[in-house]
Amino acid sequence: MELEVHQFISYFEPEQAAQLCQMAIVEKHTEQKVVFEEDDIPDYLYLVLEGQVEFRKKTACDKYHVIAVAKQNEFFGEFGVLDGQPRSAQAIAYPDTVLAKIPRAQLMEILDNTKGYVILKLLSYIIRHLRATTAQYVNQMIYQEKMSLIGEMVNTIIHDFRSPVTGIQLASAMLKETHPDEDTIEWCDIIQAQVKRMLGMAEEALEFASGNAVLKKKPVKLTTLLEHFEKLNRIYFKDAHVHFKFDVPEVLVNVDENKLLRVLQNLISNAVEAFKGNGGCIEVTANNNDKFVKIQICDNGPGIPEAIRDNLFDPFVTHGKRGGTGLGTAIAKSIIEAHNGEICFQTNCKGTTFYIDLPHQLDANCS
Ligand SMILES: Nc1ncnc2c1ncn2[C@@H]1O[C@H](COP(=O)(O)OP(=O)(O)O)[C@@H](O)[C@H]1O
Ligand SMILES: [Mg+2]
Repeated sequence: MELEVHQFISYFEPEQAAQLCQMAIVEKHTEQKVVFEEDDIPDYLYLVLEGQVEFRKKTACDKYHVIAVAKQNEFFGEFGVLDGQPRSAQAIAYPDTVLAKIPRAQLMEILDNTKGYVILKLLSYIIRHLRATTAQYVNQMIYQEKMSLIGEMVNTIIHDFRSPVTGIQLASAMLKETHPDEDTIEWCDIIQAQVKRMLGMAEEALEFASGNAVLKKKPVKLTTLLEHFEKLNRIYFKDAHVHFKFDVPEVLVNVDENKLLRVLQNLISNAVEAFKGNGGCIEVTANNNDKFVKIQICDNGPGIPEAIRDNLFDPFVTHGKRGGTGLGTAIAKSIIEAHNGEICFQTNCKGTTFYIDLPHQLDANCS
């Protein structure tokens, strides 16, 4: 956009607007660029003419946290310009961003001589932005609070689970020993594998809650993974009258196998639960493009209730189940995103399809 029509300039009388345009320095950033660092002394007010700028604050563990974004026709850096205090966050311009910067001293001079209504417009913009940033911050705090609640909850679960689960493990080991025929050994192995996964799930939910998921990625054949998944769930599907099938090409995915099994389990259990004992079909298919392995998980159930479609992936969003935690899809999303992938879904009253895009294993070699 042209500088002359930027909203900040339009607040001023024509003569002052012209002065501002004259003193503004227009800069185009083709690459991502730090505009200013947290604690820098403010020297300019910035108007965004193209692209966008992200504001990030360093957290206690030296990670950056995005607190706001300024888009075309917005401006930033006004707090520092007005009160002279150091910058409160780092500002990063995205590639292809065009900024016009107005030197602080000259701007203050113009503001000193400007009409009251100009200042009012400026003030109302600042208040609007402050409100939006505060709301975003409060939402983040609530989210973190929820996460730490999950942490506590899962801690208790893990603790209380251990002894009955160890009991199951011992019993199945005994069974295997006393009845060493092929069938019993196979079923006992399934019991033990499932028990192990139960403990794994609880521990992973804890990891998810504390936000420090560590991936143990390795190349895995998608077919092998699905065969393993099918074997683990054979009895579950049979009891629920579910026809489970998969038809995927011979592709390798570079994933943390247990975590991807978790994603499948969470999504597919939801589909099974949605059938409500009436049975149904679940099919996993996949295809490949140059960037992603694209996996689809399709069921012919009643569809995801409308009330939760917009925030399905948020933690604690559950519907129509006794004892639903509302964590299954949130965990699935966090795992897929930790693999630099994406997940979304389509749903209607005839069924639901989840789409998972996982980057090709070549891309992910660096992990
Ligand atoms: N395939 C599906 N078909 C119908 N409803 C679904 C499906 N997947 C998810 N849902 C709905 O989304 C809700 C949230 O799922 P999830 O995050 O796994 O939490 P939970 O299963 O503990 O409720 C479920 O309660 C269910 O109502
Ligand atoms: Mg679930």
